[in-house]
Amino acid sequence: MRILILGGSWFVGRAVVADAIRRGWEVTLFNRGRSSIAPEGAHLIRGDWERDTHLTQLAACGPWNVVLDVAGAVPAVVGNMARVLAPATEHYVFMSTISVYRDWPYRPVDEFSALWDGDPDLDPGTRRWDPDAYGPLKVGCELAIRREFGDRALFVRPHVILGPGEYVGRLPWWLSRINQGGHVLAPAPPERSIQPVDVRDVARFTLDLVAANATGAFNIAAPIGRDTYADLLHACRDVTGSAAEFVWADEAWLVQQEVREWTELPLWRTLPAAWAMDAGKAQRAGLACRPLRETVADTWSWLREGGVPIAHERFAEHGISAERETELLTAWPNSPRDPG
Ligand SMILES: NC(=O)c1ccc[n+]([C@@H]2O[C@H](COP(=O)([O-])OP(=O)(O)OC[C@H]3O[C@@H](n4cnc5c(N)ncnc54)[C@H](OP(=O)(O)O)[C@@H]3O)[C@@H](O)[C@H]2O)c1
Repeated sequence: MRILILGGSWFVGRAVVADAIRRGWEVTLFNRGRSSIAPEGAHLIRGDWERDTHLTQLAACGPWNVVLDVAGAVPAVVGNMARVLAPATEHYVFMSTISVYRDWPYRPVDEFSALWDGDPDLDPGTRRWDPDAYGPLKVGCELAIRREFGDRALFVRPHVILGPGEYVGRLPWWLSRINQGGHVLAPAPPERSIQPVDVRDVARFTLDLVAANATGAFNIAAPIGRDTYADLLHACRDVTGSAAEFVWADEAWLVQQEVREWTELPLWRTLPAAWAMDAGKAQRAGLACRPLRETVADTWSWLREGGVPIAHERFAEHGISAERETELLTAWPNSPRDPG
């Protein structure tokens, strides 16, 4: 299998590259080479996917059985890459997201749920992360690829991805906060169902689909109801060996205090359908999700061994400041008090 991976060096891409090399595939990465060198066993072509001359030179290095765009988010750019690479490529795979669904997180979603309107030619002009623009932009990317590849395209749409290398800052923040110990503000109810998926399981399943020449769309998430918010926080406490005590504050009260959902307390969202992605199609096709505890343990090991996420603007958005947490713990009527 000759595979070209567009990106491949931050988080999801790294896991995909590692898995493809393990399979003995002939792996080429295309990126600017800013964030890392290519791992042993992969060939790196340096270039900027926003520059036509670089894309033309890249296309001349083909052909490939499959091109996998891990990180594209600008329809005009993604579409241009797909167009230039099309003559040298049999199948095209795009790493999309749950955010393409218009109803998420308001209603449960499966692959038949309505998508946002997307424009395959759109270039918003900025490359800054914008949570409101993200879903429609990724839909535009899917449309742009579909235009070039039709039914030779595969779209994988993961829910939240965690694991070693995460640079968004969700699990790394919880791990480091819980490692510090003390009373930790936690959003009740502890039994809230969550379904983050391990980056290595996303990689393995995506490449299993590639190997099977699968096309169409697949949601990727852990099974609904398997894990809870308490499972996540308790696993963080166990793997760090911390003596942290969780103070489960009522979610309505947290909202009243204007605690920002999703970011200030990472992965916390009050809407009941936030964690209601149906990934049954993927499960029937062989998606296997390792235990959440393993993801937490391996992310902690990675951090302890000096793992450093690539610098990303989203990292700083995650987590609550120590001052604000103390303020809220003091104000929460049921909070246990520190002795003395
Ligand atoms: N995190 C989540 O919870 C989550 C959930 C659902 C879906 N997703 C999707 O998963 C993917 C995550 O991707 P990732 O960031 O981890 O991917 P990645 O492939 O590991 O990293 C991004 C790559 O893009 C390269 N790159 C950036 N700009 C470039 C340019 N102009 N020209 C060439 N290369 C460029 C970077 O390398 P250089 O900087 O060296 O160029 C890097 O290799 C995204 O598609 C996201 O939508 C994520």
